[in-house]
Amino acid sequence: MDIRYQTGFCNDFATEAMPGALPAVRNSPQHCPYGLYAEQYSGTAFTAPRHSSRRSWLYRIRPAAMQGSYRRTAARNLVSTFDPELASPNQLRWDPLPIPAEPLDFVDGLLTIGGTQSSPAHQGCAMHWYTANRSMQNRFFSNSDAELLIVPQLGRLRLATELGIVDLEPLEIAVVPRGLRFRVELADAAVRGYVCENFGAPFRLPDLGPIGSNGLARSRDFQTPVAAYEDLEGDFELVTKFMGSLWSARIDHSPLDVVAWHGTHAPYKYDLRRFNTLGSVSYDHPDPSILLVLQSPSDTPGVDDVDFVIFPPRWLVMTDTFRPPWFHRNCASEFMGLIEGKYDAKDSGFLPGGASLHNCMSGHGPDAATVEKATRVDTSRPEYVGGTMAFMFETRAVICPTARALALPQLQGDYQQCWNALPKRFPDHGAHPAGLTVK
Ligand SMILES: [Fe+2]
Repeated sequence: MDIRYQTGFCNDFATEAMPGALPAVRNSPQHCPYGLYAEQYSGTAFTAPRHSSRRSWLYRIRPAAMQGSYRRTAARNLVSTFDPELASPNQLRWDPLPIPAEPLDFVDGLLTIGGTQSSPAHQGCAMHWYTANRSMQNRFFSNSDAELLIVPQLGRLRLATELGIVDLEPLEIAVVPRGLRFRVELADAAVRGYVCENFGAPFRLPDLGPIGSNGLARSRDFQTPVAAYEDLEGDFELVTKFMGSLWSARIDHSPLDVVAWHGTHAPYKYDLRRFNTLGSVSYDHPDPSILLVLQSPSDTPGVDDVDFVIFPPRWLVMTDTFRPPWFHRNCASEFMGLIEGKYDAKDSGFLPGGASLHNCMSGHGPDAATVEKATRVDTSRPEYVGGTMAFMFETRAVICPTARALALPQLQGDYQQCWNALPKRFPDHGAHPAGLTVK
């Protein structure tokens, strides 16, 4: 039996790597078991409503305060200032990034595609690719600006965190809370995937409303690691992202020294294959909010800083309906990635590991080949969309691509051509200027 994970979404967990390491009653007894130090780790305001409060108590060999001074350090392709001058209403699409030839770990392999708003205000989000070909060696990372949603597309990762070990593979996702120190190890020779930096409120499971008490992602399918620690001394680097910059400090021990912990603020993973996908069984199809896995709510009810939405394998049974995602323009901005297979709105050009960006009110939808096929399909028969997993980071704010992303050779110069082959189907009735009543 795998006992490395506790189940449930952000439950009030309690776990110890040594028997009796967790104090029985008090959070901070005068003497902690095994001579450990007690440290509170908060992910929400102290006075947040109880149902949304996130905090954990850590019992560790040394408190997190024991480290050298941080100094600002250069980031390779990680960007945190988002220039509105670079945002455009054009539809954008990228081919997947190649795996780098030079040695590159997870932190150095982050490349920012775009972002919104700002991390200091704890609002908005940023989208990154990661590519790496080696484990983080003698270094640890944390992000004071954001919670990290990691979406592997190629290769397996191990996230060795302060609160335990999370093994991750494509079709799974992991969320690393703001400020948690961790090391990314590679279980395969090369890895690639996507990261959403969520500057706002921690991700939560959406309410289900009229759907009822079942469907979408179930709490019981989320997995949080049990306590695991290492007692290592040596010369290590601690890298932290703070106010958009990377900072580096020396630390003479591994910060992954939490022997026991309890609380609600912890990393977790989720297998996207366990998503209970719902959809129309009559005609038309619902908005993609029916495919919402996690949301970061804003201060405005019903409007999220960022939504994580997936397009998993599913049956399409709607009759007399154009079944693929239809043409649309939204007030939200949409960043999409593809983990495997083919996205059912694009016949070609959107590749696993690639990405697309459709900003506020930019028209987009199925390409011409998909329209042709979906217009002819016999909708009296069900159709299975299999072997696919696409996802979307959707946000209320406009996503500003970075100069680096716009300069990539993977940016497709001909993306808009995918719609240009759409025929004009409207018969010629002669010219009728708009606004005139035609008799
Ligand atoms: Fe869309």
